[in-house]
Formats: sequence, C-alpha cells, structure tokens
Amino acid sequence: MKIATIVGARPQFIKEAVVGEELRKAGFEHVLIHTGQHYDYNMSEVFFNSLEIKEPDYNLGVGSGSHAVQTGLTMMRLEEVVIKEEPDVVLVYGDTNATVAGALVSAKLKIRVAHVEAGMRQEPRDMPEEINRVLTDRISSILFCPSQTAVKNLKKEGMEKGVWFTGDVMYDLFLKMEKNFDYSVAEQLDLEEDGYVVVTIHRDFNTDNRDRLEKILRQLNIIVKDKRIVFPIHPRTRRRIKEFGLENHLENLDIIDPLDYLSMMGLVKHSWKLITDSGGLQKESYFAGKQAVVVMPDTGWIELVDAGINLLASPSEISTLLFYDSPLVIETGLYGEGNASKICARAIAEDFEGN
Ligand code: UD1
Repeated sequence: MKIATIVGARPQFIKEAVVGEELRKAGFEHVLIHTGQHYDYNMSEVFFNSLEIKEPDYNLGVGSGSHAVQTGLTMMRLEEVVIKEEPDVVLVYGDTNATVAGALVSAKLKIRVAHVEAGMRQEPRDMPEEINRVLTDRISSILFCPSQTAVKNLKKEGMEKGVWFTGDVMYDLFLKMEKNFDYSVAEQLDLEEDGYVVVTIHRDFNTDNRDRLEKILRQLNIIVKDKRIVFPIHPRTRRRIKEFGLENHLENLDIIDPLDYLSMMGLVKHSWKLITDSGGLQKESYFAGKQAVVVMPDTGWIELVDAGINLLASPSEISTLLFYDSPLVIETGLYGEGNASKICARAIAEDFEGN
C-alpha cells in the first residue's frame, strides 16, 4: 500500500516528523511531497535537518503568492505527481493552502484523502485557514481529530463516517523530543528562567491591518517594562512592520529570526508566558505547562480557553490579560495519550482493508 503525504508550511513539517515515521514503521510505501509554500532556510529546511525528517521525494517549488496563485499552482504541479505515483491514500495536515490543494487534487482523482487535524472550526469563517479546513474535511474520507471538540464539530456537520479521535500528533512530537530541547537561545540572550514572554504573531488579520498591528506592538512595549519580550518574527510580520513604518516599536524587544522546533520549545519551556496567534503554540505552551494569551477572536483549541489555561484577547487587552493572575491548573489529557500518530497509521491500514 502506498501513501503520499503533502507538506508545505512549518506546522506540517513538524507533524510529518512523527506521522511519517509511523507510516513507514507500519510498512507503507511512503512518498513525501513538499509544495514549496515555505522556502526560506529557517522556515523549511531547518525543520527537516533538526527533526531528521525524510528528504522530500518532490519539491513543487510553489513559493509565495496570492491564495489563488499558491493554491492553483500547487494543484497543477501536484496533479502530475499524484497521477505518476498512484498512491492509495493521500495524507494532508492542518489548514494551509497546501492542505486544501492536496485534498482537492486527490479527491478529484478518486484517491482517498486522510486529513490529520480534522474537525477544527473557528471564527471568523472567512479566514483563509478556516476556508481550507471546512473544504478539506468535506472531501476527506479519513478524518483524524485531535480533540473531542473536533469530533463534535464534524458530527454537527453530519460527518461521522471515517472519523477517528486520535489526539494531537503535536503532543506525540513534544513528548518524543522533550529530551532534545535546545535552551541555547535563552542563554545567548541572557534571559532568566520565567523572566520573559515569548511572542509570535503572523496571522493575516493581525499583520495586514496597520492599526491592529500597531496596537499589538504598543502592548508589547507596555509589557517589556516588566518582562523581557522575545519575538521570533515571521517574514510576513517583519515585512508589514517595515511597510507600515512601525520599526520604532521593536527597539526595546528582543527580535530574532524564526526558530527551529527544538530551539523554540526550549525557549517556551523556560518562559513565563506566551502571546501568540499560532495554532501550534497555543497547545505547545500547554504541553510545556505555560499560559498563552491568544490574540484571536476565536480559536479551534477552545478546550484550553474553557479550562482557563489560555486567554483570548483583542489587541488592546493583551497586557491586562497577561498580568491577570489566574490560578493555573493544567488539566491533562485534552489531546490524547501521545500515540496519535500510531492511531493514524493503524486507521489508514484498517480503512484500506475495508475498501
Ligand atoms: C501559512 C498558513 C498558516 C500557518 C503558517 C505557518 C495558509 C493559508 N496559511 O501562513 O495556516 O499557520 O503558514 O507559518 O497556508 N514568506 C517568506 N519566506 C517563506 C515563507 C513565507 O518570506 O519561506 C513570506 C512571504 O512574504 C509570504 C508570507 O511570508 O507572502 C506569507 O507566507 P504564506 O506561506 O503565504 O502564509 P503564512 O502566513 O506563512
């Protein structure tokens, strides 16, 4: 049996580090296709090197562009590869343009699609990732849910067949890699344990509106009077700050390039708290026992908000919520047992036998 996996962006590379390994352990023939959506060394190759991910069999070299260009180019180039490789199942991760393009191409070639991180839903409905999630779930045959909320979301939309509660593959990765976390960034920056806040901001609704981005940066400048701010900055955010002439707001912050997974997790583990709009970091902070202020109107990882661990904030609320002293009781087990990728591999084998 042959599986083709499609990756294109950072959060997919790290998931592939655990899922790909389990697929090969289960004896599947495995083809890895990188769409090329992320291409800078520290947005792509660094993950393959540090997490020892299998070298992609194909790189479609799609690069940056508008949503239509990125998705359309991926579809055109991917179709040729999928026709040539004839996989039995195509596996896609998460909610990026690579995800939806991969699912569309494969479903139309009548190949079964397995979606890891199915069932996530959040407002606003028009955010690109939400559009990608809804469409991908509808045309996938095997739906791997990281949380019980995701299972319920699919049920509400009439999807029950092929749905598996797996837990989160990112939890598997966290447990597997914890012993290798790299703490050197905090040392280089002379940061004290618990003495700094890690910030990541890259969502289009936070970066592409000047007022909103300026409000976020002003809040960081309030916080930095008490706690140092370490901000590994996404290329899109850096570009917007420059375009909008907001660079002066960065002077008192520790601005660094995007980090590889092991360095990022080392930084998170010794931090005080996080401020983020990343889906992945909302959970990684929880795995590390930290609280995150989530700069989003809503989140798919709502269990963490319901449990009082993470706090949703509008830009102007960030500093107040960060210093709000809530007793933090970290409820465990929200995202499975750390064997999500094994369940995925087993489920794909069962699905294949049953079809
Ligand atoms: C994408 C995903 C998002 C995910 C994020 C992780 C979609 C719709 N969104 O968003 O779900 O959370 O990846 O990072 O697919 N750029 C570079 N170098 C790179 C990559 C990007 O300079 O290697 C710059 C380009 O200016 C590009 C911009 O960043 O236009 C945005 O990149 P893009 O891949 O379109 O989306 P992300 O914001 O990274």
